[in-house]
Amino acid sequence: MILKANEIKKVYNGNTLNSPTIALDHINLEVEEGSFTAIMGPSGSGKTTLLNVLSGLSEPSSGKVIIKEQDIFQMKRDDLARFRRRHLGFIFQDYNLLDGLTVMENIMLPRILENSEVPEMREKAEHLMKLLLIEEIGGKYAHQVSGGQQQRCAIARAMMNDTSIIFADEPTGNLDSKSSKSVMNAFERANKDNKATILMVTHDPYTSSYSKRVIFIKDGRIVTEIYRKDSQKEFFNQIIDNLAALEVDNSDF
Ligand SMILES: Nc1ncnc2c1ncn2[C@@H]1O[C@H](COP(=O)(O)OP(=O)(O)OP(=O)(O)O)[C@@H](O)[C@H]1O
Ligand SMILES: [Mg+2]
Repeated sequence: MILKANEIKKVYNGNTLNSPTIALDHINLEVEEGSFTAIMGPSGSGKTTLLNVLSGLSEPSSGKVIIKEQDIFQMKRDDLARFRRRHLGFIFQDYNLLDGLTVMENIMLPRILENSEVPEMREKAEHLMKLLLIEEIGGKYAHQVSGGQQQRCAIARAMMNDTSIIFADEPTGNLDSKSSKSVMNAFERANKDNKATILMVTHDPYTSSYSKRVIFIKDGRIVTEIYRKDSQKEFFNQIIDNLAALEVDNSDF
């Protein structure tokens, strides 16, 4: 088990204008090495909060997160920052790349920060660009490439430091269907060919049908989860059915 979350609770304190929000409650979760998991749920259900807690960005109010046998919130601040830099990769909906750098420089950035050897880092970046079908745009600046290409570049960058887990929050949220497909193919390759462990938040059933397991959350709790057994198409239908059931529960009659 590469990641284990134990009885996670996250409460956002209120202020004079609003009362406290229980964003996560009783979350227990195990993620296997090499797995590809999607987290789905209505807006405000706690998806981003969950991803941020699991990746060490935001401390839970109670509960534990263990990654690679390490209790991450027991680590010292600097140690956690280093651990996150070395072992975890992040992809967001937007603002993934630095505009003043080329695609290839962006990909190499984590290694540059670690002072790695240049030839070794170029070789790795080239391998990843080939894997994710972006080798032809390596010399372009970030603002000169499409949103889908930027996201694939972000995936490559996330894989640069022999990353243990890639966390992605709505990675296709701003993309049209064709670019989404290219990005999801890239995730699929990262998972299959490079054995990357992926944990991805999305509200798009098509995007989540690329994963092997979907966890549905509502009001900060895990409601149900499904595993992909058959084709992607079958899984897509199963995801739609589960989302519909989640909505029905929502209507409070
Ligand atoms: N920094 C914060 N301070 C206070 N409350 C917050 C904060 N961040 C999130 N919340 C609240 O916690 C709950 C979960 O929010 P979260 O952003 O995790 O939802 P989400 O499932 O990612 O939603 P979306 O699909 O809209 O991105 C919501 O009720 C939200 O209003
Ligand atoms: Mg969110």
